[in-house]
Parts: sequence; structure tokens; C-alpha cells
Amino acid sequence: MNHFLKLLDCSTEEIVELLDMADQLKYELKHGINHKPLEGKTLGMIFQKSSTRTRVSFEAGIYQLGGMGMFLSSHDLQIGRGEPVEDTARVLGRYLDGIMIRTFAQQEVEDLAKYGGIPVINGLTDFCHPCQVMADLMTIREHKGHLDGLKLCYIGDGNNMANSLIVGGLKAGMKVSIATPKSHQPDPTVLAFAQQYGDKFQLTDDIFAAAADADAVYTDVWASMGQEGEAAERRKVFAGYQVNEKLMSVAHGDAMVMHCLPAHREEEISAETFEKHAGEIFDEAENRLHAQKAIMVKLMADR
Ligand code: CP
Ligand code: NVA
Repeated sequence: MNHFLKLLDCSTEEIVELLDMADQLKYELKHGINHKPLEGKTLGMIFQKSSTRTRVSFEAGIYQLGGMGMFLSSHDLQIGRGEPVEDTARVLGRYLDGIMIRTFAQQEVEDLAKYGGIPVINGLTDFCHPCQVMADLMTIREHKGHLDGLKLCYIGDGNNMANSLIVGGLKAGMKVSIATPKSHQPDPTVLAFAQQYGDKFQLTDDIFAAAADADAVYTDVWASMGQEGEAAERRKVFAGYQVNEKLMSVAHGDAMVMHCLPAHREEEISAETFEKHAGEIFDEAENRLHAQKAIMVKLMADR
């Protein structure tokens, strides 16, 4: 594994290995066991979009592993003034030991990996959010003890989160059901991938059919970063796609509720359901730290 660009590139074995490493790193941190496999290494963190969790968890994570994180806002980099990504990549590859990037186009992340000569980690694109889904799988496994055969349901926009949850959930052995409006379905490449899983994958516009007997019900914002101008229109399109107590009544009695955050209460999730499941949702946010530390160790330790 040279990069972490999208879950479509990862094998089931690699996903499970990263989850096991993340559990181990969490245990070590909680028990004060010093583990600094990235001593002297520098991670550049390029952000073309806002972030709370991704920025802070990567920066704290690399520090805990003995290395240093360097926050690089695209407002300040020459990339923001049009320097080509392949030139930026070839320069950063001379200074750094790894790059984490949050941007719009998946192709930009793929190009950075192609030209940089150092590991690249995708911290969210319009296409996917693979680091988030590693934390999500880790959290479900922590709460339920296993992943195999569990039903993961996603309600809302067929966006980067939906794309990554489909691939990650299916590769991890889960059943995945997705409810989106027909006009906002997940990416066609992801739907084509999911076809090979037969009836382990379900795509519908009926939120109750998707959530029936689910072990975890996931949702995300109706308007993602970059879609702020469509927010009013999207509020109409997604009006019937809220995770609330009525929907949760058809899921398993002990079903988890998950959200990558930030959340918009009374849009994609009711305030009541959010607060009832806040323990799970903030465990999920915490696990970004541990899951990403595993990804960094795997990619950067032996270089
Ligand atoms: N879930 C997530 O990626 O959060 P941030 O946008 O705050 O990084
Ligand atoms: N779909 C959201 C996820 C944020 C973590 C976005 O792209 O803005």
C-alpha cells in the first residue's frame, strides 16, 4: 500500500489490518504507552476546504507518533494561484514524508500521488472520504464486536460519504442499504462496484425500507462543501430524508446512529435522535484520530 486515495483501491485484508492497527494505537494512547514510529517525519496537510476534525486529528496524530504536521492552506500555497498540481507534488516530495490533501476533484489527489513520490492520503474529495469511513468501521466494530453480516444503512445525499460507506461497508463484510432521492444517487462507478455483492447491497428511495432491521443508521449533510449555493433547493429535495425516532423505530432496537459531522439538526437528523446517540457519534469523531494514525504508520513508517 503506497497511498490511501480511495477505498476502491484497498483490499479487505488491508482494511482489516488498518482497523486492527487503529485499535492497537488507541489502546497504547489510552494506556500511556509511548510509540513514536514517525520520529523526524513531516506530513504536509493541504486544505482547499474547511475542516475541524480532519485537520486537528491529523495534526495531533502525527505529533503523537513522533512527527510533525504542517498545515498548508490553498489560500497561501501557489496552487491557489494556479501552479499545476504536478509541479506542487514534485516540490513537496523533496521536502516532506507524506501529504494529506482535502480538495474538490479526486483527480487532483490521484495526480499528487502520481507525481509526488511520497505517500498521499485523501482527507476528503467530492468523490469520497475514506479516512472517515475507516473511523466509522472502527466505531461500529468497537460497539458491536464485529462487522461481518451487520446491516449499515445510509440516508440522504448520494455524496462522498455514501460512496465511501458503500465500498468500505461491503469490503468489510457488511450489508449496505442506501436511501437517496433518484436524482441524487451515489457515483455510477461505486454502484457498478456494488453490483458484484448481489443482495448484500440495496439502493432505494424509501428510507423505511433502507433502515429496516439496520444495525447502524448513518446520515450526512444535505449540502456538502462547495454546494452552499444549492442549500435552499436541496432542503426541498431531501425533506423526507431525515434520521429521527420514527425512522429508528424500524431499525434494530440497539441500532447505532452515525454522522460524520458537522451536523445540521432538524435537517438530516432530528436534535432528539442526535442527542440520544451522541455517545456513538462522538466516539466516531474520536476514532478519526486513531484510524488516521494507523494509516500514517502503515504508509510512512518504513520509508
Ligand atoms: N467529518 C469531517 O471530515 O469533519 P471536518 O470537515 O471537520 O474535517
Ligand atoms: N459530505 C460532506 C462531508 C463533510 C465531512 C462534505 O463534503 O461537505
